[in-house]
Amino acid sequence: MNKILITGCNGQLGRALNRLLEGKQGITLINTDVDTLDICDLEQVQKRMEAERPDTVINCAAHTAVDKCETDQENAYRINAVGPRNLAIAARKVGAVIVQVSTDYVFAGDASRPYVETDKTSPQSVYGSTKLEGEKFVQQENEKFFIFRTAWLYGEGNNFVRTMLRLGEEVLAGKRDRITVVSDQVGSPTSALELARMMLHVVPQGEYGIYHATCEGDTSWYEFAREIFRQAGMDVDVVPVTTDEYPAQAKRPAYSILENRRLNQMGSYRMKDWKDALTEYMEERKEQ
Ligand SMILES: NC(=O)c1ccc[n+]([C@@H]2O[C@H](COP(=O)([O-])OP(=O)(O)OC[C@H]3O[C@@H](n4cnc5c(N)ncnc54)[C@H](OP(=O)(O)O)[C@@H]3O)[C@@H](O)[C@H]2O)c1
Repeated sequence: MNKILITGCNGQLGRALNRLLEGKQGITLINTDVDTLDICDLEQVQKRMEAERPDTVINCAAHTAVDKCETDQENAYRINAVGPRNLAIAARKVGAVIVQVSTDYVFAGDASRPYVETDKTSPQSVYGSTKLEGEKFVQQENEKFFIFRTAWLYGEGNNFVRTMLRLGEEVLAGKRDRITVVSDQVGSPTSALELARMMLHVVPQGEYGIYHATCEGDTSWYEFAREIFRQAGMDVDVVPVTTDEYPAQAKRPAYSILENRRLNQMGSYRMKDWKDALTEYMEERKEQ
């Protein structure tokens, strides 16, 4: 892994990878985002790939607005399915590995135990089904593939942690009474930095395939919010509500815990517990 082309470099994961890779000896980084490389344009992707000839392509680009995907299905399919397909084809032609990032939303979310990599997929939303199509294309088009399924991602960008901190400030300033957060959906909050570390550990080992990649442990959105305020030292009232009381356009999995079975069987890297990863994130924010 010497010459790496990153797509969607300004997104949360793209930025986290950059923090870890920038200035690293022996690594040439080619950073692209939609303004410099639109992954939906096969001709553009192939030309760029042939000009740069990377050995690894990490696709951090996606249509991640889950509710918007429901009404913007064509774009969701283009970005989440056709884009990865284009990258996988172009990567294959130059002999590069394709690294795709996927989601817990490829599962139905009605299991009674954590999902492992080989479990049956059954997406319940446009976002989930287009991401699953992306997974399938990547596997079909390039045998040198990695797919990392992650969940509840937060890093540098818009995410749940930032939203809670902003709403919490509003409560403390008297502009809002309280915050209501869904308590009947559980998952594993995952720091983009920790995901990036894990990916950069696994990819050089060349063991292609699908990996679940979430921080260890699980929680509900409600408990996650409470932990954010606890760690931030903010005395903010959080009220639990049910999914039915908080309607959204896209259906969310009620239970979307992923077990990092393959990673933990490898035994050389264990992802941080979600609370520890949150502590690292909060401490870095304080320093900024
Ligand atoms: N966020 C989560 O909670 C979460 C959960 C599970 C899995 N994931 C997956 O994890 C990966 C990283 O997510 P993230 O949160 O880092 O995403 P993000 O912050 O939304 O970043 C996505 C990036 O892709 C860019 N992009 C959009 N369309 C593009 C196109 N046609 N060509 C090139 N770039 C394009 C976006 O640019 P613009 O901003 O200009 O559109 C943005 O810079 C994605 O595959 C996502 O599906 C995320």
